[in-house]
Amino acid sequence: MRYGHFDDAAREYVIVRPDTPLPWINYLGSEDYFGLISNTAGGYSFYRDARLRRLTRYRYNSVPYDAGGRYLYLRDAASGELWSPSWQPTRTGVEDYRCRHGLGYTAIGSRQAGIAAETLYFVPPGETLEIWRTRITNRRGTRARLSVFSAVEFCLWDAWEDATNFQRNFSTGEVEVVDGVIYHKTEYRERRNHFAYFACSEQLAGFDTQRDAFLGPYRGWERPLAVEQGQSGDSIAHGWAPCGSHHVEVELEPGETRELVYLLGYSENPTDSKFDPPGSQTIDKRRVRPVIERYLDAAEVEAAFQRLRDHWSEILDVLHVETPSEHVDRTVNFWNPYQCMVTFALSRSASSFESGVGRGMGFRDSNQDLLGFVHMVPERARERILDLAATQLPSGGAYHQYQPLTKRGNDAIGAGFNDDPLWLVLAVAAYLKETADLGILDEPVAYDGAPGSETPLYEHLQRAVGYTLERLGPHGLPLIGRADWNDCLNLNCFSETPGESFQTTENRSGEVAESVFIAGLFVLAATELAEIAARRGLGDDAKSFRAAAARMDAAVCEHGWDGDWFRRAYDHFGNPVGSAQNDEGRIFIEPQGMCPLAGIGLDDGKAERALESVAEHLSTPHGLVLLQPAFSAYRLELGEIGSYPPGYKENASVFCHTNPWVVIAETRVGNGNRAFEHYLRINPSAREEQSDVHRCEPYVYAQMIAGKDAPTPGEAKNSWLTGTAAWALVSVTQWILGIRAEHDGLRIEPCLPSDWTGFTATRRFRGATYRIAVRRTSERRGDGVQLLLDGRPLDGTVVPAAAAGTTVSVEAVLPAMPGTAAELVTVSER
Ligand code: GLC
Ligand code: GLC
Repeated sequence: MRYGHFDDAAREYVIVRPDTPLPWINYLGSEDYFGLISNTAGGYSFYRDARLRRLTRYRYNSVPYDAGGRYLYLRDAASGELWSPSWQPTRTGVEDYRCRHGLGYTAIGSRQAGIAAETLYFVPPGETLEIWRTRITNRRGTRARLSVFSAVEFCLWDAWEDATNFQRNFSTGEVEVVDGVIYHKTEYRERRNHFAYFACSEQLAGFDTQRDAFLGPYRGWERPLAVEQGQSGDSIAHGWAPCGSHHVEVELEPGETRELVYLLGYSENPTDSKFDPPGSQTIDKRRVRPVIERYLDAAEVEAAFQRLRDHWSEILDVLHVETPSEHVDRTVNFWNPYQCMVTFALSRSASSFESGVGRGMGFRDSNQDLLGFVHMVPERARERILDLAATQLPSGGAYHQYQPLTKRGNDAIGAGFNDDPLWLVLAVAAYLKETADLGILDEPVAYDGAPGSETPLYEHLQRAVGYTLERLGPHGLPLIGRADWNDCLNLNCFSETPGESFQTTENRSGEVAESVFIAGLFVLAATELAEIAARRGLGDDAKSFRAAAARMDAAVCEHGWDGDWFRRAYDHFGNPVGSAQNDEGRIFIEPQGMCPLAGIGLDDGKAERALESVAEHLSTPHGLVLLQPAFSAYRLELGEIGSYPPGYKENASVFCHTNPWVVIAETRVGNGNRAFEHYLRINPSAREEQSDVHRCEPYVYAQMIAGKDAPTPGEAKNSWLTGTAAWALVSVTQWILGIRAEHDGLRIEPCLPSDWTGFTATRRFRGATYRIAVRRTSERRGDGVQLLLDGRPLDGTVVPAAAAGTTVSVEAVLPAMPGTAAELVTVSER
């Protein structure tokens, strides 16, 4: 069952009924100002940091679901009938409901009682405000008199304090209302130099800023008293809960449309000129007023929206594909890169499942997110790399998270996740391959943000690799520390105390427990670093990184191989985890993906054997589950993994992030069919028709889909902010379609399903444009790909970087698979 459909020409997903199984959200903004918006206008906004600078309130896990948002109410003066065009919060019957989620904007509208209304929400590029443009049309045969009420509830900035410190909060709230603009200025009197504003383009009939005056005693947002009565109270908030509501009266002739513009924004003043006049307590509005005036103008709004559309077209132009699969096309061409932008910007901080108060930017998460983003906006990737590296510790280890506002490591969580530093090497390698900007390696970067501790970035990478080498266990495999990629495999935790954090508790010394996954990741990172060193002219370094990779590869083959698959780890007692010897958790997915991806076992059959085992033990109709058999009980020696009932999260769900690793591994052994099959199982668009089972948005990846051991197999959770976004994009574009940036140029080496006859792609790379046509033909003998560059055969599969500004055309010819449609396509038929 579906709740809407893709509109690929418009790059939108169109939801046609408001009662989706969960709020289906979108994001507004991509630089400093962000908002989440659901298909019924729920959600909230923040400036940079979802915890520390939250503008509006949202109630997570509330009843009804998805409470708090960017609400509008219409009230018909003649009948007194009232409703919200976005369905929530009144939830009264609406006709022709439509929510169009696009790239950086959402439009929600409907019709009721002959009145059509649609609101477009977006953040203009470069601004710290959001626009709501509402169009109301009278489709009745008679004149209509309407009241329009807007409503937001202000958050008192720090979202955690806001939700907990009521003895203070109920007395601090302050607003100003000047010329119809509502200013929220709680704590502006003391140390804040920022405020929020909520403006409307129309003459007001009234306003409210005290929530309880607007709602009325004991009422919720579904039927505010002011709306019911058709009259605002002109209330000024003193403490309690400041809100913002404008009341506009509108008269419409039959067929007439009226446009209203609302602005919700964030503004800062220099600390020494906060007040006007100086010495007063009145906000100095000289800087913000021109911004408000500018965007309340309909033509400016239209122009800003066009800029947003152009911005995305420009970004998405970097890679465009046309393949035999509509799921691949729409995912690769816009939804997946769009999701990558969101994960890059927000890490795991704010979604329908991440409350925005708990987590900053994850070190491993952000480095991986970068892999999906770097080709679109390399300058921002560069900045991110330097920020991340500056949270590295002198040991080479890394803070697990940092706060985006302060860019400092988060002490509460600290370090000790032994995979963390290695991801930095992958991120830098991806950046260098995309840009060839070797200069970044010389950038001075501090450790733990400490001035004076700077070394060139290159040394950070050396220390990252050294960190693993200095922490090897009894089998010569990397010690796991608190956890590796799998946050819930906590082999040194041994926690028996309820509520104790699995990720920060180490009740046992960590000298024994080892991770085969980190070993695989290490081989990949050390190999990348060797290439980087070679390009820097450091031959000895390159040699020693290669040697370290080879030693680790050997350790994996000797102690990490179980016979039919790669083991996962050794626990605190030196017993294998993820082995046929175990009763549960006999096979884990992570090393089966990561080891072949790193090149381990490719030439002795281990990789192929491991992938066979994955297909045999982990494959389900909804994707590959993380492990089998699921753990039926909590095990002290394994940690959080047993917190989850079988089939959920790390305990044997389809933890989507891991699936693309296996996809890539399959391409590394040349199995295009299976790579594509695994890819498609978790592709959101390919799952759209079972939206009632999947329940999350069909246009973005979710972190997990319940596995076969769960009572609800196929049910997704934790959509949007997941490393799946980056890895899925990498797996399909770089390994299945086979177009990947390398230091020496653009490699084109597809590994396609056998029934594909080919595809075309356009890739912008280091300023040049590559028009790529891939086709299978029965005339091609042998099994490799032959490239033709501007018609001339090329040796190998790397197209050297072309001069910036030029366009080159590349044909890639693959042999047809016997017995498939592709075999019948000949050169002349093309
Ligand atoms: C979450 C975390 C990520 C971790 C994964 C597996 O997605 O954000 O860092 O690797 O869970 O536990
Ligand atoms: C829990 C989740 C895991 C997440 C971690 C973050 O362990 O299962 O997915 O990465 O919390 O702290």
